[in-house]
Amino acid sequence: MKIYTYHTPERVPADWQPDCAIAVDVLRATTTIATALAAGAEAVQVFSDLAELEQVSQQWPAAKRIRVGERGGKKVAGFDMGNSPAECVPERVKGCRLFMSTTNGTRSLERIQTSPLVLAAALVNRAAVAEFVQKHQPATVWIVGSGWEGNYSLEDTVCAGALIHYLWGQQDAPLETLAGNDETIAATALYRYYQDDLLTLFHHSSHGQRLLHLGNEADLKYCAQVDILAIVPWQVSPKLLTKA
Ligand code: MLT
Repeated sequence: MKIYTYHTPERVPADWQPDCAIAVDVLRATTTIATALAAGAEAVQVFSDLAELEQVSQQWPAAKRIRVGERGGKKVAGFDMGNSPAECVPERVKGCRLFMSTTNGTRSLERIQTSPLVLAAALVNRAAVAEFVQKHQPATVWIVGSGWEGNYSLEDTVCAGALIHYLWGQQDAPLETLAGNDETIAATALYRYYQDDLLTLFHHSSHGQRLLHLGNEADLKYCAQVDILAIVPWQVSPKLLTKA
């Protein structure tokens, strides 16, 4: 297995496809997706375009749809939810489909939608996703961070590193045999440095700061937890994710 890490969807190569592509948006889209599926949501359908989301979700029974819209860390006016995993409790989401559009995370999922196996990972479901990958043994894996509007983000890179570190732990080989690019080595180093204090890393990060200013400290604490959900969100048809 060779793992290639990309910090943003813009950096993903245009001329080849991996056997498996994993989208990461720790703060907060992929954490919210894993949490919603763990709480019994039927599926999560992602959109980069809000108007398309509104039009497609219109065709779904009103009692079974939840429109999740986030821009700049804030809930989009008129939507049912912002992008907080704290809102994804069973009483709210069980049996419902989430129609979701966020600033960056849903764009990553859209960018990798044509890969044969598409997964969504966060710290909360890191081990579940890594075990799934380990079991399926794809020859090539992309881990695609969402970043912020085309720029690098610490939190997605540390999550990529957490995934790689877990997969590396299953092998008796040096990291360079697993690493397809230098970003994979760097992400692992970042995780090894911060693994016991991920919340501090979130406080250092620009999007962590943005969420703190918006009063979302509880979300940072939740998203910094590792391996608390045994959920693997996987794509069953383009941009539609359910539990594997
Ligand atoms: C995003 O897609 O950029 C995020 O998930 C933003 C957020 O809701 O914190």
